[in-house]
Amino acid sequence: MSAFDKINLSKTPKHIAIIMDGNGRWAQQQGEMRLFGHTSGVEAVREVLKGCVELGVEYLTLYAFSTENWNRPKEEVDGLMNLMVETISNEVEELHKNGVRLHSIGDEAQLPEACRNALIAGKKSTAANKKVNLILALNYSARWELIQATKSIAQKVKEHQLEVADINDQVIHVHLCSKDFPDPEFMIRTSGEYRLSNFLLWQLAYTELYFTDILWPDFTKEDFYNAVLDYQSRERRFGMVSEQLT
Ligand code: IPE
Ligand code: IPE
Ligand code: MG
Repeated sequence: MSAFDKINLSKTPKHIAIIMDGNGRWAQQQGEMRLFGHTSGVEAVREVLKGCVELGVEYLTLYAFSTENWNRPKEEVDGLMNLMVETISNEVEELHKNGVRLHSIGDEAQLPEACRNALIAGKKSTAANKKVNLILALNYSARWELIQATKSIAQKVKEHQLEVADINDQVIHVHLCSKDFPDPEFMIRTSGEYRLSNFLLWQLAYTELYFTDILWPDFTKEDFYNAVLDYQSRERRFGMVSEQLT
């Protein structure tokens, strides 16, 4: 019996965010180069995306490259950028067929031209799709995003378009690069690391967190279903007490 059969389809999270971690260790465990792990991780992305289609998850945000990842050896960074270009170009047709719309968050301007172009083309050709929104966090970090938001809010205050007293949650939300998406209800991190690594710090304020030791290339659709089942066993109280929840 698959975990899928135990999932309550009327209570699946609308938005799931994933820190896809452990590619390098997965490759090293089999005596391969780290890049082999990244290439192998693409299959896990396909699996999870299918899982989202089946469960009716509307938004899937994947942490694909952080602003800190530039500090890796040049060979790995170049390999990752090439993989990004190849994967986006090769998968676009399949995304389109499955009704997936591609988005991205992060500092797109600082990406290599080929990567930026693949991303722009992928977003354009899937723009009318409505089933699942796939959001790639590429050259993303939460502090970078919050600095950008702070700068544009400050600029509006300076130009008298906004009063300091009117700055609230919603004002911050609409200045983030993720403004078009609801906050994730659920965040998964693979590979047994218990940290956020500069991912969605604002958006994860009340998100349910799930950590698994499975390395990303080994993460299957069934693992994804099990994670969602775990989510469904939790009580989200938002500061209230159990008795207040209906
Ligand atoms: C995650 O896997 C993918 C990226 C950060 C791009 P890692 O490359 O971080 O794999 P580990 O954590 O070193 O095993
Ligand atoms: C986080 O993983 C970034 C991505 C998955 C893209 P890292 O492997 O870079 O995180 P740290 O450095 O171990 O925290
Ligand atoms: Mg890692």
